[in-house]
Amino acid sequence: MVIVTPRLLLRELEQSDFNDLADMLQDPDVVYAYEHRFTHEDVQAWLDRQKSRYAQYGFGLWAAVNKNTGEVVGQAGLTLQPCEGEEVLEIGYLLKKRFWHQGYAREAAEGIKQYAFYTLNAPKVCSIIKTDNVPSMQVAKAIGMEKEKEFTAAYFNGGRPHFLFSAYKKEEENRSPSLVLRPYRPEDFPQIVRLFEDTIRTVNRRDYSPEQVEVWAKRGECLQNSFFTSLYTVVALFGDTVAGYGNIDSSGYLDHLYVHKDFQRRGVASAIYQELERYARSQGACRITVHASITARPFFERKGFSVQKEQQVLLEGIPLTNYEMDKIL
Ligand SMILES: CC(C)(COP(=O)(O)OP(=O)(O)OC[C@H]1O[C@@H](n2cnc3c(N)ncnc32)[C@H](O)[C@@H]1OP(=O)(O)O)[C@@H](O)C(=O)NCCC(=O)NCCS
Repeated sequence: MVIVTPRLLLRELEQSDFNDLADMLQDPDVVYAYEHRFTHEDVQAWLDRQKSRYAQYGFGLWAAVNKNTGEVVGQAGLTLQPCEGEEVLEIGYLLKKRFWHQGYAREAAEGIKQYAFYTLNAPKVCSIIKTDNVPSMQVAKAIGMEKEKEFTAAYFNGGRPHFLFSAYKKEEENRSPSLVLRPYRPEDFPQIVRLFEDTIRTVNRRDYSPEQVEVWAKRGECLQNSFFTSLYTVVALFGDTVAGYGNIDSSGYLDHLYVHKDFQRRGVASAIYQELERYARSQGACRITVHASITARPFFERKGFSVQKEQQVLLEGIPLTNYEMDKIL
């Protein structure tokens, strides 16, 4: 997984995506702007080009997959493109025709823009759009891009007039960001430790005594980057603010799930949980287990878990109640 948005999962393209790619690139309506018929060899070259982009830059065009159905709805991502002698970071999107007019391009582009600004620290993102491609311009405008200039871009059949649409990170603060999930990165560590400690001291406080809260929150001092990298850790962001995180191992043991005190009951844990469950299934796990706090128990019950056992864990000699819960996949 590279990015998760409300409905989509963006991930690197693989050889097994060849048929889905061909479905898009060989549909004249989808690639009308290219004015080119894509052969099987062209499709393979396109796929290989993305793979070398992933290796060289860490980004490229990714598969956009419907999270619920697992279906590839299109491709979307970031590439470096020439524009009048300079290189610009471009957000590109191309959807299978049957998925047009459902807001997927906008959703993917918004998530990619936030990834570019807040994970890659890019100051600016662009979209290069053929001057008659009105739907793509609408997507660009919907994610806050503005027309910067018109220029001639080289295409299969020579130069064609294009608009350069762009958005700047420094202007992003005026827009309310949507929720984006991505894998943990070491630079998240300080914010995550603070979130762990703050959430326990504020949210869990209603279910535990001050003494219990203190020994639990102090465990934040023992957390290490290696704990987060050794598990599949997913981070939920609103812009550059970590709204929550969770992690799971390949056997299906869900270890942490914490949501920022200011973002409770907004579906953040649900989004994280959905991705953790997807990962566990992909690893062949047939059960998810968790030691849930009193606070988190109703959440896990909502997700189909049942309590196997109530237990007391000792932290620095102080007992805390939690529940061994599981869900059969
Ligand atoms: C438990 C926790 C992770 C839930 O996060 P959240 O982002 O608020 O959860 P969501 O908004 O995704 O809620 C999903 C569902 O669970 C329900 N839910 C969440 N917390 C609930 C609570 N305390 N009581 C009752 N229902 C609750 C929601 O109403 C929602 O139900 P719906 O799908 O029918 O609308 C969050 O409260 C938290 O961080 N708690 C403190 C840390 C903690 O104890 N972590 C677990 C350690 S094991």
